[in-house]
Amino acid sequence: MASRSLMRDQYGRELNDLRISLTDRCNLRCVYCMPAEGIDFRPPEELLADHELLLLVRVAAALGTKKIRLTGGEPTVRPGIVDLVGAISATPGIEDVAMTTNGLRLDSLAGPLAGAGLRRVNISLDTLDPAKFGRITRGGRVDRVLAGIAAAEGAGLTPIKLNTVVVRGFNEEDVVDLARLSLDRPWEVRFIEVMPFGAVADVADAGIVPSEETMGRIEAVLGPLQPLDLSGGDPARTYRLPDAAGFLGFISPVSQPFCSRCGRLRLTADGRLRLCLLRDDEVDLLTPLRRGASYAEIKEIFAAGAYRRPFGHALAERLFPEKRVMIQIGG
Ligand code: 5AD
Ligand code: SF4
Repeated sequence: MASRSLMRDQYGRELNDLRISLTDRCNLRCVYCMPAEGIDFRPPEELLADHELLLLVRVAAALGTKKIRLTGGEPTVRPGIVDLVGAISATPGIEDVAMTTNGLRLDSLAGPLAGAGLRRVNISLDTLDPAKFGRITRGGRVDRVLAGIAAAEGAGLTPIKLNTVVVRGFNEEDVVDLARLSLDRPWEVRFIEVMPFGAVADVADAGIVPSEETMGRIEAVLGPLQPLDLSGGDPARTYRLPDAAGFLGFISPVSQPFCSRCGRLRLTADGRLRLCLLRDDEVDLLTPLRRGASYAEIKEIFAAGAYRRPFGHALAERLFPEKRVMIQIGG
């Protein structure tokens, strides 16, 4: 019987989530995501074209992928994003399409994206303070993100999850105000430990705030965090504040690695399967695609890469991924 499942990798972990980076460009420049200058954007012809990307989605679906998350850079700056979401959602076998976005363009795009089949969004929000937001994102406006969140909610892209990367010296005190949002809104506010990547490793290295510290800061002001078991395959540990409408999540890749539960595979905008977020181990799919490899060959290369996903990162030994920063991977 032909298997409809990506099965398990060499460590027995089930694969349940394909994250696709649609572009390496962004309309913000967050300090932990890209260096101030010197980033090497790919020329458009070195990125997967829509038809190539859709073929890879068909391959992934044939191997058992049901859930897709679209990332970037900033996925909404990819030309033709609404039609592309429509085509991905319409792929047989794909049941759930979500997006991680900075929210800036949701004001106008939330409705059309929902209409095209997008189910949910995770929106990055590191602080509610306009000046600090400008500093972390190198020039962004927080009011536009808040408008984007409202538009997403209005369009039914729910449940809304907010992603906060906590960086010492930038926003470690702001976690309390962000956590407060969960009191009367049914949102999940998730606090992420900053991870060190190549050209921004210094920001993360000096700026890491362990989740335990963030939790302590929130509890000191807003009361005890009640643990919930909602996690499933999600790396976030989930809690609720007393009487809150929403949730808080803590994602601790540095202090508490979750590699044993990791069911993720990543496809970069330049057509590489990235086998682990925190390692430079990648499988080139673009070259075989452009050389005219058959669907069956591509499927074979994809499946072999998925099977040999590595286990464990080496952040503790200070071995940081060098080849890419987050804007080139997509989270
Ligand atoms: N460490 C942790 N999270 C990061 N992101 C970007 N760079 C980093 C980093 N160095 C997050 C963004 C967004 C998602 C795309 O990845 O905040 O939520
Ligand atoms: Fe853009 Fe998101 Fe990276 Fe910030 S974190 S620069 S919004 S891709």
